[in-house]
Amino acid sequence: IKTIGILTSGGDAPGMNAAIRAVTRGGIYNGFNIKGIYRGYDGLINDEIKPFTTENVSGIINRGGTILKTARSKEFETPEGREKAYKNIQDEGIDALVIIGGNGSLTGAMIFAQEYDIPCIGLPGTIDNDLYGTDNTIGYDTTLNTIVECVDRIRDTAQSHERIFFVEVMGRDAGFLAQNSAIATGAEAAIIPEDSTDVDQLQNFMERGIRKSKKSCIVIVSESPKCGALYYADRVKKEFPGYDVRVSILGHLQRGGSPSARDRILASRTGVGAIEAIMQGQRNIMVGVRNNEVVYVPFADAIRSDKPFDRKLITVLDELSI
Ligand code: F6P
Repeated sequence: IKTIGILTSGGDAPGMNAAIRAVTRGGIYNGFNIKGIYRGYDGLINDEIKPFTTENVSGIINRGGTILKTARSKEFETPEGREKAYKNIQDEGIDALVIIGGNGSLTGAMIFAQEYDIPCIGLPGTIDNDLYGTDNTIGYDTTLNTIVECVDRIRDTAQSHERIFFVEVMGRDAGFLAQNSAIATGAEAAIIPEDSTDVDQLQNFMERGIRKSKKSCIVIVSESPKCGALYYADRVKKEFPGYDVRVSILGHLQRGGSPSARDRILASRTGVGAIEAIMQGQRNIMVGVRNNEVVYVPFADAIRSDKPFDRKLITVLDELSI
């Protein structure tokens, strides 16, 4: 292997630039050529590829977003799209690919690697923290801190007006951001997908305490197409009249901003880990960090939908929000 191509794909996450830097510099340090692929898999298909030197990644470790741009490529989901991508890989002399992205991006990498003879290494880049086999994903810590900062501000106004606030946070199908930001902000409750099987979480929460002791409160709601923050706010208005209810949907401000030290370090460690994996002849794995050790996780495991969610986190919030 002489030349390594690198791309970012799916939703951007703070720390992706630090990961691009780590793969580029770690690769060059170990004698590889690096090529940057722009706009995710679309850039592979459309041949938006250029050689990277150490200078290409100077001054980016502290920057949010991704200098390589990103996309959710529809074309790469088709066999024809992947065929074009492979042809460009061959024409560009790329011998291995590093893909920084979340669940969808690593699923794409897994399929590609099954069809074509190209070693693919993934780095867990997503704010959602929903990749199995790594304790945290790149971007998760920064976003968690951003949410905490926003909710602290919302609490000031919630208390002043004695209001119930439903604050909606991202996470796709995972409640890590919601549950942990609720604990970190002292929120009164979190409504998360992991806890929505049989109990009505809103009913539970309203009966448990708000009536007794508190006039203002914050409920963090994990995004959901059907039952997000607006849905719960409407229900409170109808089912528990007498409360002054407001909704705040934090949206994409959660994805931006300078990465935290933790995310920069995770990105740097896994980026160097990706180069080591290539040197060891590994293929079709995601590099993660578990129990503070760099680990290699097969793609099929990384994209599993059942990343363990510590249910004690629910108890912690419940006990502390009395
Ligand atoms: O996967 C990252 C994420 O931010 C999710 O939390 C969210 O559901 C989604 O991406 C939003 O995607 P888009 O930026 O395409 O609207």
